[in-house]
Amino acid sequence: MTEETAPRGIDPSLPSPARIYDAMLGGKDNYAADRQVVELLREMYPYAEATARENRAWLGRVVRHLVEEAGVRQFLDIGAGLPTQENVHQVAQAVDPGCRVMYVDNDPIVMTHGRALLAGAKNVTVAEGDLADVGTILERAREALDFTRPVAVLLSAVLHFFTDDQDPYRLVAQIREALPSGGYLAVSHGTSDIERDNSEALADAYSQRASSTLFLRDRAQVTAFFEGFDLIDPGVVYAGHWRPLPGVEPRPVEQAPVYAGLGRRP
Ligand SMILES: C[S@@+](CC[C@H](N)C(=O)[O-])C[C@H]1O[C@@H](n2cnc3c(N)ncnc32)[C@H](O)[C@@H]1O
Repeated sequence: MTEETAPRGIDPSLPSPARIYDAMLGGKDNYAADRQVVELLREMYPYAEATARENRAWLGRVVRHLVEEAGVRQFLDIGAGLPTQENVHQVAQAVDPGCRVMYVDNDPIVMTHGRALLAGAKNVTVAEGDLADVGTILERAREALDFTRPVAVLLSAVLHFFTDDQDPYRLVAQIREALPSGGYLAVSHGTSDIERDNSEALADAYSQRASSTLFLRDRAQVTAFFEGFDLIDPGVVYAGHWRPLPGVEPRPVEQAPVYAGLGRRP
């Protein structure tokens, strides 16, 4: 994308989590300012992009698991990010074309690209929304999804943009209360459990430059998001260790410090 043609309302000089992540995944929907952050992160930590890829691979595995093993056909993906490869609806609809997906993100660039890319897709909705106002997201989701049947809410690599002061646990509890019995919550979250000093320096560098603060949590703090859910095996583990594909050796945890888990509302 070029800065000159940036859509109205988008500041290409202020790196955004959606565009930084897109750059990390090798996408084209980002600006020089976003790529500079990626370069800085790469200098501090050579596995920054590998970490993003490991997270994205987990998201694909958990969605496939939900459709194939748990029988879920509806997904609410909050903090969905820019469309990339293996988008949630593509993974789910490859198994059952009847799967319904609602993507939500607070970055207007995701709306612009999402709506264009998904124009022809069936059973897919894209909406602008802020997880901080999860009540409004849930209200809109009820128009697109049937909350009397199982819905999986995906919070992949988004809760770490909330500090404890913003009380993300309360927001997740609101989601839990909206879910029917048999609904699911999938969470992935960056952690400083590994190389704590370097991880925190990295989070500080990110937060100083980007439009959102990066707030890493430890395993117990990530597990606490699943209060009121039954954790599905193997629980909250490093994303690469969450049901890896047969024959695929997970990346060493030092090279992808992201926790991931899936819970079912009893
Ligand atoms: C690192 S990307 C993750 C994308 C995708 N979920 C994945 O895991 O591949 C984080 C996304 O969360 C979005 N985001 C950050 N804070 C948000 C908020 N308060 N409400 C909704 N989306 C948010 C960003 O705009 C970005 O697109």
